[in-house]
Amino acid sequence: MYKIGIIDTMNSRGIELLKSNKDLSVDLITDLSRENLLKILPKYDGVTLRRGKLDYEILKNCKKLKVIARHGVGYDNVDTNYIKENNITLLVTHNSTSTSPAEHIMFMILNIYKGREMFDQMVREGNFHKAIHLQINDNFEVFNKKILIIGFGRIGKKLIKKCLGFDMNVLVYDPYIDEKTIKSLGGKKITNLEDTLKEADIVSMSVPLTEKTKNMISYKEISLMKKSSIIINASRGGVVNENDLNTALNNSIISFAGLDVFEKEPPDKDNPLLKNKRVLLSPHAATFTKECLENMSLETAQNIIDFFEGKIEKTKIVKL
Ligand SMILES: NC(=O)c1ccc[n+]([C@@H]2O[C@H](COP(=O)([O-])OP(=O)(O)OC[C@H]3O[C@@H](n4cnc5c(N)ncnc54)[C@H](O)[C@@H]3O)[C@@H](O)[C@H]2O)c1
Repeated sequence: MYKIGIIDTMNSRGIELLKSNKDLSVDLITDLSRENLLKILPKYDGVTLRRGKLDYEILKNCKKLKVIARHGVGYDNVDTNYIKENNITLLVTHNSTSTSPAEHIMFMILNIYKGREMFDQMVREGNFHKAIHLQINDNFEVFNKKILIIGFGRIGKKLIKKCLGFDMNVLVYDPYIDEKTIKSLGGKKITNLEDTLKEADIVSMSVPLTEKTKNMISYKEISLMKKSSIIINASRGGVVNENDLNTALNNSIISFAGLDVFEKEPPDKDNPLLKNKRVLLSPHAATFTKECLENMSLETAQNIIDFFEGKIEKTKIVKL
């Protein structure tokens, strides 16, 4: 019997799936404090992980741990050096975690481009006819706009289809994906990021947070962009430098931003981006749809089961 700890809440279907497996004994771990994780994790053979940080101090006591199944695809909350050295397998939800984030990026683009909040407010406040007198300078068609997708993995590849459906021109920056793959999906591979930033109308981030991608878009890059352009970050806080973004928005260097993720989550109350009217915010909620959360929970649970039954798909295992 393997002992499995479910770290943090997840949709009940995955929990039921794990509990119904006769070879597993399953506990829910809802206290995500360091003290609690230090104390209780050493007894587990496997864990699922949503929020909660598995750092060196915590992991070094987990002598029985064989597998960590992330509820999601990012794993910046795990000490990957330690698990690599100690042969602990890291699994991600490969199949279920890209459709909703790609839709969320489109939702942010369309919200920003179509002035949703302003129009909604006008109707509610009895200003229905006010719209006809407005000089519309901030609402745009997405038709024919150039979107630059930075990071062309699972989310990037889902996003491109939606962009092409809206007749956008798609430029892709991902040094690790070949030109043929990008072209076959309808995009144009670019190699010079700085030149392309100058011509893009929309820049959307779908890269992991790594040493290389941290602050990938900072003031220097933003200052190359068009005044009318927008940035969407639904990947990880920190790939776009928040201070620089805020300064750029305040100085009309670019026009708007959509942020689902933050350098610190939740962001501090005095984070200036929370008061900035030129930012559309969501609380790391790009996967928060009924379908996505159910599927992620089921896939996370199935990954644990497949791992212990020795039939885990290679694509689910993170190569460290
Ligand atoms: N907001 C959310 O709720 C949410 C949901 C899912 C994923 N994410 C984040 O989005 C990221 C992307 O997800 P995914 O499933 O598409 O991941 P993925 O691993 O399938 O794709 C990431 C892509 O980024 C590329 N990349 C890596 N370094 C790069 C660099 N320096 N420049 C350009 N491209 C680079 C890789 O080659 C890869 O193609 C995840 O790492 C995760 O952190 C956020």
